[in-house]
Amino acid sequence: MKRAHTENDKQPNKRTFRRPVAIDVGSSSTEEKQRYLGAKTKGSVEFAEKQPTAKKPFGKYEYGNYQGYYTSRRKQGNASIDARIDLLDSELFENKRILDIGCNSGNISIAIAKKHKVVSVHGVDIDDSLVSKANINLCVAYSLDHPEKPSPIDLSLRFNYFPQSMTNMFGMMPISLPPIKHEESQNFPFNVHFETKDWAQSPIEKYNQYDTILALSITKWIQLHNGDKGLKSFFKKAYDSLAPGGTFVLEPQDFDTYQRRAKKIDPSKDVEQELRFRPEDYTDFLINKLGFKEYRDLGVPKGEIKGFERPIILYIK
Ligand SMILES: C[S@@+](CC[C@H](N)C(=O)[O-])C[C@H]1O[C@@H](n2cnc3c(N)ncnc32)[C@H](O)[C@@H]1O
Repeated sequence: MKRAHTENDKQPNKRTFRRPVAIDVGSSSTEEKQRYLGAKTKGSVEFAEKQPTAKKPFGKYEYGNYQGYYTSRRKQGNASIDARIDLLDSELFENKRILDIGCNSGNISIAIAKKHKVVSVHGVDIDDSLVSKANINLCVAYSLDHPEKPSPIDLSLRFNYFPQSMTNMFGMMPISLPPIKHEESQNFPFNVHFETKDWAQSPIEKYNQYDTILALSITKWIQLHNGDKGLKSFFKKAYDSLAPGGTFVLEPQDFDTYQRRAKKIDPSKDVEQELRFRPEDYTDFLINKLGFKEYRDLGVPKGEIKGFERPIILYIK
């Protein structure tokens, strides 16, 4: 039997936390700071700690809204942030308006915005607690940025800089983003914006709005919750949101992994029967039905860890 969707299904966490103006850690002790802002890890920043989550009806993570996702994706001891970023050409990001659908805790969005001179990065995720983390992670990434031109006048540039060694010793530093000054609003971190949204269900905001749209490891979750029709509408919305010449970057999950997850969402679900639109059909749909002009299969990123060996395919509008 099919379970009816309720409002709660689409808003797994109702906490509201936007771009922080100040993070009050409540205590000056290192232990307190680590508890609030995240534990230090050996040699690298481990982004913000778990937020308390409400018990979900069919178990946790029914949207793929994993906490600590990037810890499990990263090869132990490998310094590289994410093997997928190395596979993606800078042309996709330089001077581009980017949308990252299902941005999780913002690691990919932030890494792209730091590495490339982007116009903007808009990260959306259905889970508000992950969007909160993404905002904290943005503050941390900013705090690790050494000011290019130390300013004797703008003291915020000095006081907001915490080298990696500080983070390693004390955990995350409780900084806030300084107020946006007009001339800086185009630069990191002000050009990165996170938002809580069910991107599959919300109406399109603006046509031709983005130059590059990332849909990494999300199609499974869209299809499990919205069916074949919902995934097709998701693709159509991505197409409509892209400017002509823009690129849709897709990392589909293997259909073999669907059934196990489907049972957590609805124990009666039988994906073999219910879902006929399969990853091998996506290219035909995107090119022949939606009108993407061409596609390029980039293959599986080198060094991707076991369980995450998924191809990345670019569709150009
Ligand atoms: C498996 S994670 C992948 C994260 C990221 N895209 C990556 O590959 O590094 C899937 C993410 O998509 C989010 N998500 C699932 N359904 C969504 C929807 N309808 N709208 C927005 N985000 C969604 C989840 O909360 C989760 O953070």
